[in-house]
Amino acid sequence: MDSSIIQNKFLELYDKQPSLVRSPGRVNLIGEHTDYNEGFVLPAAINKEMIFAVAPNDHSRCRIYSYDMRENVDVDPTAFQPSKYTWANYILGVIDQLQKQGLMVKGFDCVFGGDIPKGAGISSSAALECGLTTALNHIFEFGLDKQSIAKISQKAENEYVGVQCGIMDQFANMFGQRHQVIKLDCRSLEYELIPFKIDGYKIVLLDTNISHSLASSEYNVRRQQCEEGVKILKEQGLEVSSLRDVSLDMLTRFRTMMDAVVYRRCRYVIEENKRVEEACRLLEQDDLPAFGQKMYESHEGLSKAYEVSCEELDFLVDQTRDNDSVLGARMMGGGFGGCTINLVKEEALASMTMDIEQEYQQQFRRELKVYIGDIVNGTEVMSND
Ligand code: GLA
Repeated sequence: MDSSIIQNKFLELYDKQPSLVRSPGRVNLIGEHTDYNEGFVLPAAINKEMIFAVAPNDHSRCRIYSYDMRENVDVDPTAFQPSKYTWANYILGVIDQLQKQGLMVKGFDCVFGGDIPKGAGISSSAALECGLTTALNHIFEFGLDKQSIAKISQKAENEYVGVQCGIMDQFANMFGQRHQVIKLDCRSLEYELIPFKIDGYKIVLLDTNISHSLASSEYNVRRQQCEEGVKILKEQGLEVSSLRDVSLDMLTRFRTMMDAVVYRRCRYVIEENKRVEEACRLLEQDDLPAFGQKMYESHEGLSKAYEVSCEELDFLVDQTRDNDSVLGARMMGGGFGGCTINLVKEEALASMTMDIEQEYQQQFRRELKVYIGDIVNGTEVMSND
C-alpha cells in the first residue's frame, strides 16, 4: 500500500501534515481457537496493510475518513453513540477504551485505508484497532507500550464491537517481526520469535470470498462451550482455570459428566495446543513436511471436532491433499469463511493457484482470491510530522 495516497487525501481534507502509521494484517500458521483458552498460537504480521494519517486538531472533534469506503464520521470524543458504519465502531471502541484507561482523547483528524481484505480472516479489525491506538498514542504522547496497545485494542473489540476475541490478532499486529513467526503463550503473554525458514516455499492465502453470518455468534458460542467444560472439571474438584491446565487424560476421565459437544470442543483445544508445541519443534528442526502435516491435522480438528469450517474451506484444503507442491493447508482465523493458509513450493505457485481458482469457480460459481503472504514487521509509526 502506497502511504502517499492516504497522506495526500489527508492534506486535501485537512490542509496540514499528518503523522503516518502502518498497521499490517496477520496470518496464523497453527494454533486456532486456542488464544482465549490461554493456550499457544503461532501468528505473524503480513504484507497486507492499513495506513493511518493522523494529526491533532484544535476544535475537540474526532473527524475520521475511511478512504476505502468513502465514508466519514465526526464525533465528540466525550459523548458518542455507536455508528451505523461497521468500520467506525472499531474506531469508536478504541476512543472509548482509551478514555476508560484514563487517557484523554482530544480532537484529531484521521484518514485511513489499505489493502487488507475485510472478512477474510486476515484480521483487518486488529489492524484498524492497533493502527489507530498507535497513532493516537503517538500524537497525544500517552506513553503506551506495545503490549498495552494490543490489550486496549482487544478490549475495544470485546466491549464496543461485542466480539469476545482473544489476544492473538492484536499481539501479532504489534509484535510482528520480518521473516519470523511468534510463538505466543496467551496466558503469560511471553513470546518467542522463531525464524520462518521456508526457502523455496511461499505462504499462500486462498480467500473463499465469503464470510458466513454465523462467524461472530458461533465464535462466542465456542468460547462458552470451552468455559462450560472447564466449569464442569472444576465442579469435580480439579484445580484448573482454563483448558490450558487440562490434559487429555483429565478430560477423558470426566467425559461422561459433560455434553458430547462440549467434550469434543475441549478435546480439540487440548490437542491443538499440543500441536503448536510440536509444530514449533519441527520448525526449529527445519522439518517443513512434518510441520505441514500438523497444519492438515489442525484443519481436521477445526472442521470435524470444533466445527468452525465450512464447505468452501474444506474444499480448498481437500484440493491440495494430493498435490506434492503443497506442504500443508488449513483454514485460518475464526472460521465460517475467510481464507485457508497453504505452504506452496515457489516453482509450482502459478500452476497450483490457476488450477485451484478454476476448480473453486466450477464448484461454487464464485471467484477465489489469492494472496502471497510475506512476513513483515508489526505496526509502526512511519514518520514524525
Ligand atoms: C479470531 C479472533 C482471535 C482468535 C481466532 C481463532 O481471529 O480474533 O482472537 O481466537 O479467531 O484462532
